[in-house]
Amino acid sequence: MSDLTKTVSDSSLTHLAIIMDGNGRWAKRRGLPRVAGHQQGVEAVTRIVDECVRSGIRFLSLFAFSSENWGRPQQEVDALMGLLLQYLSSQRQKMLSEGIRLKVIGDRNRLSEMVRTALADAEKETSQGQSLTLVLALSYGGRDEIMRAAKKIAQDALDGQLDIEQLDNKSFSAFLDTGDIPEPDLLIRTSGEVRISNFLLWQAAYAEFYFTDVFWPDFDAEELHKAINVYQQRKRRFGLTEDQVGLAIKESND
Ligand code: IPE
Ligand code: IPE
Ligand code: MG
Repeated sequence: MSDLTKTVSDSSLTHLAIIMDGNGRWAKRRGLPRVAGHQQGVEAVTRIVDECVRSGIRFLSLFAFSSENWGRPQQEVDALMGLLLQYLSSQRQKMLSEGIRLKVIGDRNRLSEMVRTALADAEKETSQGQSLTLVLALSYGGRDEIMRAAKKIAQDALDGQLDIEQLDNKSFSAFLDTGDIPEPDLLIRTSGEVRISNFLLWQAAYAEFYFTDVFWPDFDAEELHKAINVYQQRKRRFGLTEDQVGLAIKESND
């Protein structure tokens, strides 16, 4: 079976990616400070991680803090970093017992030493996890990631370790932070915004998009399954014709 045949005939949801948006508006509607929305947002993260483990999803990528979010008021940035540290320590036991493997993508150099250490420790401790790979996008921007990959490639070429002629989509992908992670199948964005905001620009080339008005703190297992049901009705073609896709599915079933 060719790679493309395998891709078009596989309708399973291996990698779910989520742009968790709307914490601030959720709080504002209730007359609460934005940070209260972020706190509830962490509760939603815990719920959705649990549901993904239960549903047998292998990869969950969560956009938690973008390279552009550094421009927010310092107090909000500090609160978000504090919540991240709390999350890591409160989930440690569960991650280990449930086989959840943590992987961080993004520019770690901009994170504080304390956050970097906590992340590296959690990644190391959970590295043997076999159920869900939880990909946290922190200080992450798709353009920044592609640019960092391009710099690494250029350096390897200058050092004589890489033949530019051999570079293709697959070997380029390996230089991204997502390295060995499969591309997202479904990308959900909450809160009614209909944009990608610099998330997984390269990787989402053929992802299915799902937008909901629900604010992230209100997102729950029921909303997740609504999105998954919609995804399962979608017809992914990857540039091929409907007939070719039909044939590929038939071949893979034979
Ligand atoms: C998403 O919620 C969380 C982060 C970006 C860290 P927002 O904080 O963007 O919430 P809104 O969009 O202002 O409502
Ligand atoms: C995207 O949300 C980043 C995260 C969810 C972490 P933003 O709220 O930062 O995006 P914009 O500014 O509405 O595009
Ligand atoms: Mg937002």
